[in-house]
Amino acid sequence: MKKLEMVYEGKAKKVYRTEDEKQFVIEYKDDATAFNGLKKGSIVGKGAVNNIMSNIIFQMLEEKGVPTHFVKQLNERETVVKAVKILPLEVIIRNVAAGSFSKRYSVEEGRALAKTVLEFSYKNDDLGDPLINDDHILALELASEEQLKLVRKYAYEVNDALKEFFLERGLKLVDFKIEFGISEGEIILADEISPDTCRLWDVVTGEKMDKDRFRRDLGNVEETYQEVLGRVKK
Ligand code: TMP
Repeated sequence: MKKLEMVYEGKAKKVYRTEDEKQFVIEYKDDATAFNGLKKGSIVGKGAVNNIMSNIIFQMLEEKGVPTHFVKQLNERETVVKAVKILPLEVIIRNVAAGSFSKRYSVEEGRALAKTVLEFSYKNDDLGDPLINDDHILALELASEEQLKLVRKYAYEVNDALKEFFLERGLKLVDFKIEFGISEGEIILADEISPDTCRLWDVVTGEKMDKDRFRRDLGNVEETYQEVLGRVKK
């Protein structure tokens, strides 16, 4: 599959058009940002880790009935995916209090939640990805009622599959963010699932095994990404 011109460059990935209008090539970068781009850096090897890890997970999710954009991995950093139009929504699932949830409601990180939380952010860097609810989404026509229903259903299914998958690898899935796109009229899982987009805590030591090591300057960032990939490959 030949890459043609770049159609989009995000903070962590580039997306290229191909000779097939129904397929894109995604190229993962080592660039890392946090706090809406305020903190910038690079995590050596991150692009390869996120590409390979996402592809393993997306194939596992396909087997469990969640449709995804995955087509074929080309090399360590590049993957052919179905061309989608991304819904401007960040879909976040929380199993344990952490991050912005802990800050917003003043609850200690690590507190178990009495109910799994699904929240949406409006994907808009200029606005700082504000939290929005179902009514806002429908009012702003960011998704239809039918699409929203499916997004919620898939998000919980992804959570169930991921919790089990990571637990088998000694990792507790605290929370994560996913994105969906529309391909030939169908809602499918797109973007990535990686240490950039999940909070993963070691089951035994409680150590943070995700991008919080970069966000919070905890050290061993590269090593942690490699360790997570090693466990995911198991
Ligand atoms: P938060 O606690 O900062 O809202 O993050 C919730 C989850 O979403 C966490 O697993 C990290 C992930 N996330 C992203 O993937 N991209 C983002 O831009 C942000 C802010 C969070």
